[in-house]
Amino acid sequence: MPLFLDASSLDEIAKYSKMGILGGVTTNPTIMAHDGIRGVEAAKKRAKDIARALRPLPVSIEIFTDGDRAKMLAQAKEFASLADNINIKITIHGPHGQPVYLDLVNELETKHGIRVNVTAMMSAQQGILAALAGATYVSLFGGRINNMGYDACSEISKLRQFLDDFELKSQIIIGSTREALNVIEWFNAGAHIVTVTPSLIETMLIHPYSKETVQMFLNDAARITGKTGHSKRKR
Ligand code: E4P
Repeated sequence: MPLFLDASSLDEIAKYSKMGILGGVTTNPTIMAHDGIRGVEAAKKRAKDIARALRPLPVSIEIFTDGDRAKMLAQAKEFASLADNINIKITIHGPHGQPVYLDLVNELETKHGIRVNVTAMMSAQQGILAALAGATYVSLFGGRINNMGYDACSEISKLRQFLDDFELKSQIIIGSTREALNVIEWFNAGAHIVTVTPSLIETMLIHPYSKETVQMFLNDAARITGKTGHSKRKR
């Protein structure tokens, strides 16, 4: 299933999960903080609750530690142990470009059997390196790429071509989705998965002309049943 939800609210996850349209959930510290989660224990509890609600679908949880490799490894293992459908998000590198975390990605995937989602990537080049390091998911931030004046579709298609040519296992997740149009154009460009916010699903789902058409049906149904109401469009 190619559509993931970018969220940490259990209510929102339950709402869209029940529709059967989700293939997984991604979240990050910004989303969790926005949802009022405070403290590592609270974040772990939420991660566990999301994973239980989604099981067996995958849930990507980002570690909170940065720079200290031993602490990052320990937290990645701790978060992954919360549920068997949790994948660990590791940023491609730290806030100053150093250190690069691909050795940790490789260790988690090859020595600890932990699936990693390498995140916060802005180019096909970064995605290529993350894929070669063995990441299960390689996450490009399409909206941020476009914000900077680059073309997300071009980065996606270059990365997909590379993965296919060299038969690498990584799946491309495109996040940072800004417009409903992004979903179609990023799938067309070669994304395996697009992750969307709850509000974007609403935008995809609800159309003004559908509303008007449904109102016409209801008005005409009322004419048939003898209740009041008139359709705007007369046949
Ligand atoms: C993806 O997994 C990220 O959580 C997310 O899409 C980032 O989006 P933003 O650019 O809106 O922060």
